[in-house]
Amino acid sequence: MRLRVKHLVKTVFIAALSLILYGCGKDDDHVSLKLAHGLDTGHSVHKSMVFMNERLKELSNGTMDIAIYPSGQLGSERDTMELLQIGSLAMTKVSASPMESFVPKMKVFSIPYIFRDEEHLWKVLNGKIGQELLVEGEAVRLRGLAYYDAGSRSFYTRDKPIRTPKDLEGLKIRVQKSQTSVRMVEALGGSATPISFGELYTALQQGVVDGAENNPPSFYLSKHYDVARFYTLDMHTSVPDLLLMSGHIWNKLSTEQQGWLQKAARLSVPFQRKLWKISSDAALKAVEEAGVTIIQPDKAAFQDAVKGMHDSYKGEPVYELMQQIAEIK
Ligand code: GCU
Repeated sequence: MRLRVKHLVKTVFIAALSLILYGCGKDDDHVSLKLAHGLDTGHSVHKSMVFMNERLKELSNGTMDIAIYPSGQLGSERDTMELLQIGSLAMTKVSASPMESFVPKMKVFSIPYIFRDEEHLWKVLNGKIGQELLVEGEAVRLRGLAYYDAGSRSFYTRDKPIRTPKDLEGLKIRVQKSQTSVRMVEALGGSATPISFGELYTALQQGVVDGAENNPPSFYLSKHYDVARFYTLDMHTSVPDLLLMSGHIWNKLSTEQQGWLQKAARLSVPFQRKLWKISSDAALKAVEEAGVTIIQPDKAAFQDAVKGMHDSYKGEPVYELMQQIAEIK
């Protein structure tokens, strides 16, 4: 209960702050859109949003821009999605995992081992399934503008290296605020603790959790590798990042303004994907150089362990989606 009150107070505070900031950025002939996200300014996603802003300024002849608030300054991903829904914040970038609380079918991305490889993932994202999922959020005032590459997620731990799913037994693993991610860790034998990204460094440091899971750039840029010295490349999920726009604010833009913004967002995707590849390899190299033990486990053991989880979705709409995804070659 106390936590709920704290959450409410925080949301109201952020909403008030956002209203002030959003209001400041808008006058009759200039539109400044506020975008908040939780990643570091060195991250490819942040750099691509800076790129998107440049494109938007050009396309709109300087009549529109985006003010970016990085590093979780305006709250967690759940907070920013709620701000979008009430129209206090124009844009955000979140992981598809916490979005499943708003768009249930998004849970498909947090189900482990449903994509064969990166090519398969992007075929799905750019195809009918991905594009339909992107617009599904419109019903809850979260309009998807684009997907960004977030590679694949793997476990990292403080004290005990994970080589097989058995090693997860008894370990507390931080997951995103996503019920499916909780189920994924439990299916593999660990015990899952949802914590927001901004609070994770301290949680790892204080031993509130024994480990977490993420892609190489986030593991590196968040400095979690200071504390978690084992990185097991089991690549259990490929959860994309999503660029979202408040449905309220989108509807206030003219058709021309919407077109500029959508185009600027689209242009930032190939830019980000190119940066992603380079930065993900560099992050892995950097953590290895910093003394982190990189483990290449036998992925088959992890895949076998989640078969029951896959079957548990039979009869749910997401199961059909999983099958459609499997059929995409
Ligand atoms: C990824 C993702 C972030 C998310 C983070 C997390 O890094 O890009 O949007 O916040 O995972 O684990 O919370």
